Amino acid sequence: MPVTVTKLLKMKERNEKISALTAYDYPFAKIVDESGVHIILVGDSLGNVIQGESSTLPVTMDEMIYHTRIVSKGVQNAMVVGDMPFMSYQVSIEDAIRNAGRFLKETGASAVKLEGGASVSTLIKSISAAGIPVQAHIGLTPQSVHQMGGYRVQRDEERLLDDAKEVEAAGAFSVVLEGIPSDIAKKITQAVKIPTIGIGAGPDCDGQILVLHDMLALTDRKMPKFVKQYAQLGEVARDSIKDYVDEVAKGTFPSEEHCY
Ligand code: KIV
Repeated sequence: MPVTVTKLLKMKERNEKISALTAYDYPFAKIVDESGVHIILVGDSLGNVIQGESSTLPVTMDEMIYHTRIVSKGVQNAMVVGDMPFMSYQVSIEDAIRNAGRFLKETGASAVKLEGGASVSTLIKSISAAGIPVQAHIGLTPQSVHQMGGYRVQRDEERLLDDAKEVEAAGAFSVVLEGIPSDIAKKITQAVKIPTIGIGAGPDCDGQILVLHDMLALTDRKMPKFVKQYAQLGEVARDSIKDYVDEVAKGTFPSEEHCY
């Protein structure tokens, strides 16, 4: 049974933790889905981990549509959420609704995510009114890196609580809490009825999300403190490819069993 907005709200009511991960292509989406993850976010973090950019700012709508479409093909159970890239929702409400709609019309995603709190509540209301579920994202919002003066933990408790309540009132079905001290994230989680999904926000959120390529150590970028690396897949890939290069050099690949 595919994960729905209703199921996620029920999970919060029942104190069942929600697991979320990013994915950007078909093979990983399939593995993540088959592993029982509830939400697969096609994050604009693909700018960092797939495109090699130093921020998420250059990512375009067409790139997000492409990646979300190939992810959806590999998913049977998880909720697929398409991340709205920088400048796809900031210019006008019409633009925001049209771009959010593209995720549902063209990719198979069933929801979108956008960054911001009280300042985007009108947008969340309008997109939700068009029948598109919206996940909000508050705290450290990477698309505002220049305004925040870098990727910094956000500690303004009053503002964060207000942001969470505003996005809930606007109709968001869930909210990502990024880079927020654990005690503040706990208070936010208790203050709203919608599930909070934490990344660098401590253990008391209703769920957790990580960037897949960070938790599998597939990138060599500097890891934030909140990342736990569950495997060293980059090393496994490098060693395997070195073996291949050696065998080609020695002429031991292909051997009899790989020949016609
Ligand atoms: O783009 C992304 O992957 C995200 C998550 C880190 C929440 O926004």
